Amino acid sequence: MTPSQNAGALAFFEDLHPPKSRFLDDVLTGLAKRQKSIPPKHFYDAKGSALFDDITGTDDYYVTRTELGILDGIADDIAARAGKDTVVIEPGSGSSVKIDRLLNALDAPAAYVGLDISKDHLISACEDLAARYPGLTVGAICADFTQAVPLGEFPIPDGRRLVFFPGSTIGNFEPDGARSLLCRLRDWLRPGDAILIGADRVKSAEVLENAYDDQQGVTAAFNLNLLTRINRELNGDIDTGAFSHRAVWNAELSRVEMHLVANRDMQFTVSGQTFAMKKGETIHTENSHKFTIDRFTALAASADLSVKTHWSDDRGYFTLYWLERA
Ligand code: SAH
Ligand code: AVI
Repeated sequence: MTPSQNAGALAFFEDLHPPKSRFLDDVLTGLAKRQKSIPPKHFYDAKGSALFDDITGTDDYYVTRTELGILDGIADDIAARAGKDTVVIEPGSGSSVKIDRLLNALDAPAAYVGLDISKDHLISACEDLAARYPGLTVGAICADFTQAVPLGEFPIPDGRRLVFFPGSTIGNFEPDGARSLLCRLRDWLRPGDAILIGADRVKSAEVLENAYDDQQGVTAAFNLNLLTRINRELNGDIDTGAFSHRAVWNAELSRVEMHLVANRDMQFTVSGQTFAMKKGETIHTENSHKFTIDRFTALAASADLSVKTHWSDDRGYFTLYWLERA
């Protein structure tokens, strides 16, 4: 997203952006493991957020298009369920592109609150939204939702809450982390509130691997940008050109894995610490779990959430679930 041409005023902005030391800890700890790994939340600096937006426009990444299509078909149903004066809270809001579908359908929504770890992107997306919906109270919270977010301390208007968590971002967590995140979202709900969450479905390995290794090379650039970010923010000297992108479907664990593969033996430093990699060794950067409806329902139940209804596209590629406290 380019800087706002048409910025509306935010009702509030809360800055709980994690300190750089958290990024450094994650990188140093992750690179010291036998299977090197870095949590995917660190993809999202300003460049990473822009690259994610570009991914959503590629032919191979069916996820965003499919979910938008479902939302178009169910907006009235959602509006009827949500009722009047709804307060929509969107964790991992990114460019807030899907929310227009809901806001256009909802009956006099009271407020929208975007929450994201990518600060500048969040502010600019929420300001754009405020300009598009001049009567709507729009707030923004920059925070890491894997940590507790004290919503009660922020000036969020009263009203029935709809927590909107699209994009299958829940799939970027391993089962324990997904359950914990759902529990945190559940704790934002008061009686009568609900969660509308999107989760990608299991499908052929070919479709999945193409979606995470698009022909235009945008996903590769997104993955490699993590190394550029480490070099810039954590004083690294990684030769980014010596890595390549790999996306592979792991059927046993029902997830697409993204890795950065070392193309030669190498050594590099990050904040003064030295790491070595052998040719072919990888840094595991993301899991994107894919769910059957039964598996997602069981995951929700493990967080004391029950699936009231769900909607899918004709191909059965993606499903949106309406969850309430069990
Ligand atoms: N909801 C949008 C964007 C999905 S991309 C969509 O459906 O298209 C995932 C978004 O979640 C990014 O904007 C990223 O910055 C944000 N994100 C990832 N991990 C996060 C975390 N731990 N805390 C807060 N935001 C996070
Ligand atoms: C944000 N998240 C749900 C995306 C996904 O599909 O796992 C991130 C992404 N990674 C590669 N392409 C898109």
